[in-house]
Amino acid sequence: MNKPVVYSGIQPTGIITIGNYIGAITNWLKLQDEYDCIYGIADLHALTVRQVPAEYRARALSFFAQYLASGLDPRKNILYFQSHVHEHAELSWILNCFTYIGEMQRMTQFKDKAAKHTDNLNMGLLDYPVLMAADILLYQAALVPVGADQKQHLEITRDIAIRFNNLYSPTFTVPEAYIGKQGARIFSLQDPSAKMSKSDPDPNGAVSVIEDENSIAGKFRRAVTDSENSVRYDPENKPGISNLMTIMSETGGMTIEEIEKNYRDKGYAVFKNAVAEAVIERLRPIREEYTRLMADKAYLMDIARDGAERAGRIARKTLSKVKRKVGLVELK
Ligand code: TRP
Repeated sequence: MNKPVVYSGIQPTGIITIGNYIGAITNWLKLQDEYDCIYGIADLHALTVRQVPAEYRARALSFFAQYLASGLDPRKNILYFQSHVHEHAELSWILNCFTYIGEMQRMTQFKDKAAKHTDNLNMGLLDYPVLMAADILLYQAALVPVGADQKQHLEITRDIAIRFNNLYSPTFTVPEAYIGKQGARIFSLQDPSAKMSKSDPDPNGAVSVIEDENSIAGKFRRAVTDSENSVRYDPENKPGISNLMTIMSETGGMTIEEIEKNYRDKGYAVFKNAVAEAVIERLRPIREEYTRLMADKAYLMDIARDGAERAGRIARKTLSKVKRKVGLVELK
């Protein structure tokens, strides 16, 4: 491997939204040739919150199939499940010994989660960023595409890497946030001031990439707008309509100006139907491919096994370097 490595992970919880698709996945497709991209289903991370085993297993597999169906090519990228590469847990332990409790207690996401999960304030919740650091550092990733909510976790990853490199000798690539061409930001259909969230408790706020057509149409019909009844791009004063225009532009290919010209005085009902239509058309091949993949579990498992093997080879190289540096006895 000599192209720079890009690493990203996704927790298999909630849904993969059109916001994830427009904002992240479509950009990843453009990185495929320039970088060595590694995408992990972060199934160990999501165990920090109680999961129903059968549902969790099904969802993780579904997320994997959705990545593939969205166009991520398993020959050009490494796609795998975090739990299939044991080195994540192992490096995580070692990195724990180079991370301070205070640093973890100061993480804003930990504080938020700790307030929310008072009945299950487990060690994993506190340790979550160290596992994430292990994900990234195992692969010597140079770039990590992260949203605002994960910036702090990337910062601590850098701190841990620098600390380790200084204590021993250069071992880890110190990763940076990937801020190349960012995809458009997509907001909730119910609250256009908030980012569309994969775990929105309001089912009308977000649309999944594999959602059925009637459901998509219904959600756009119910999308929160304003009372002006003019389709005009003005994120400040008309965040709902502007968000719908962005979604339409990103999925249907029309520019914002063209949308404005075509729909300005057509009324919101007509416009919302047109947005839904654009989204439905764009997602149709994804849903079809997803359905095909989910009917072929053996194929999915082959891809997952191959991904785990390729990821594992890189991970083992880094881990054995780390073990040697900290002074563990090597079996040779
Ligand atoms: N914590 C990330 C999130 O919730 C998911 C994640 C796990 C991740 N490991 C990662 C993201 C490594 C980037 C790199 O969004």
